[in-house]
Amino acid sequence: MKALLLENIHPVAVESLEAKGYEVELLARSLSEDELVEALPGVSLLGIRSNTNVTGKVLANAPDLLAVGCFCIGTNQVDLAAATERGVAVFNAPYSNTRSVVELVIGEIIALARRLPEKIEKMHAGVWDKSAKGSHEVRGRTLGIVGYGNIGTQLSTVAEALGMRVVFFDTADRPAHGNARRMSTLDELLAISDVVSLHIDGRPGNAGLFGHEQFSKMKPRAMFVNAARGMVVDTESLREHILSGHIAGAAMDVFPVEPKAQGDPFESPLRGLDNVILTPHVGGSTQEAQEEIGWFVSGKLASFALHGSTALSVNLPAVNVPELRTGHRLGFLHRNVPGVLARLNEMLAEQGDNVVQQQLATRGEVGYVVTDAAQPLSAGSLERLAASENGLWVRTWSA
Ligand SMILES: NC(=O)c1ccc[n+]([C@@H]2O[C@H](COP(=O)([O-])OP(=O)(O)OC[C@H]3O[C@@H](n4cnc5c(N)ncnc54)[C@H](O)[C@@H]3O)[C@@H](O)[C@H]2O)c1
Repeated sequence: MKALLLENIHPVAVESLEAKGYEVELLARSLSEDELVEALPGVSLLGIRSNTNVTGKVLANAPDLLAVGCFCIGTNQVDLAAATERGVAVFNAPYSNTRSVVELVIGEIIALARRLPEKIEKMHAGVWDKSAKGSHEVRGRTLGIVGYGNIGTQLSTVAEALGMRVVFFDTADRPAHGNARRMSTLDELLAISDVVSLHIDGRPGNAGLFGHEQFSKMKPRAMFVNAARGMVVDTESLREHILSGHIAGAAMDVFPVEPKAQGDPFESPLRGLDNVILTPHVGGSTQEAQEEIGWFVSGKLASFALHGSTALSVNLPAVNVPELRTGHRLGFLHRNVPGVLARLNEMLAEQGDNVVQQQLATRGEVGYVVTDAAQPLSAGSLERLAASENGLWVRTWSA
């Protein structure tokens, strides 16, 4: 059992996989397509971050590969269709940096309310400007959270602990946490919020969601935070509203166009404005988040390889099975066509096996069924299953 981890993945992932019996090779850099093709035979788990491309060619030349772990949020660097076709499970860590984003946003809200960007700049320029003008506590002020998902809800809880009033708007039906109040429209939220913070996802309909109309509907002297997606905000409109004094400050962590490489120049109409905090998409970038990602993704890879669980896989149907403690387990990944489950159960019945539990899930073209049984399925039955025209793979585990 060999795992290859690239791009300096946090050592906690190495420890976690080694503890489960894997021989782990950790490289600091990414590998090119050709290097991966050479390196992957014999490797059952591959760990990458955003700089390694797992292409169809790589997958076609990785006969032993069971799963790819993206130790990051995005999975665009993996050819997911090719991975699914070959039955390779792909995992990522969508929620491991939630707290990091929340803490940055809370820090920014306080910094904006105290007009710290201006004060810090003046101090560095040697100017002592002690004044309470325009400086506020956040206690008692209203925070409007747009997008009440993982980050929005956790921000809600922490902001309430600071004494803020929280209102939120979400297009989905989300329950309120703590004393937060749901707003039935975005306009309602904009009209009463002292700070508006965006935490919506990147679905196509959200492009350009926040522009002149929405900024105009915000309270005069309100503040604006975006640590969600750059493309949802019209930064030219935001600039105009800051220059007019309607918006008292803004903190932006994400931008419609972001530099690709470290050290590349950054252009934005928001540069140089008073009481504006600009950060290079670091909301989720903390050591703690990296460690959490290492722990989370290595755990998903191991539960898949050692127990057959596809919970939170981004491409295979999600079957969340616990660790097998007694008996035998059969995992069958197959094309999503009628009759597969019936034929599998016929086979089990033919050999008189007692099914302890069975779970099936389908996703698009693929179905996955996990069966726990008292007896191992006979070698003949396994061969028939593996050879069936709709089968992608068959795997067995025994406690
Ligand atoms: N700055 C960073 O470094 C960083 C790090 C992690 C996540 N993010 C971004 O933060 C955002 C939120 O992440 P999350 O994990 O909370 O996502 P999530 O999917 O858990 O929550 C998003 C919420 O937004 C809601 N939503 C979508 N469109 C909406 C709309 N037009 N109006 C109102 N509600 C809407 C959804 O129903 C959902 O509840 C994402 O865009 C993510 O990419 C940024």
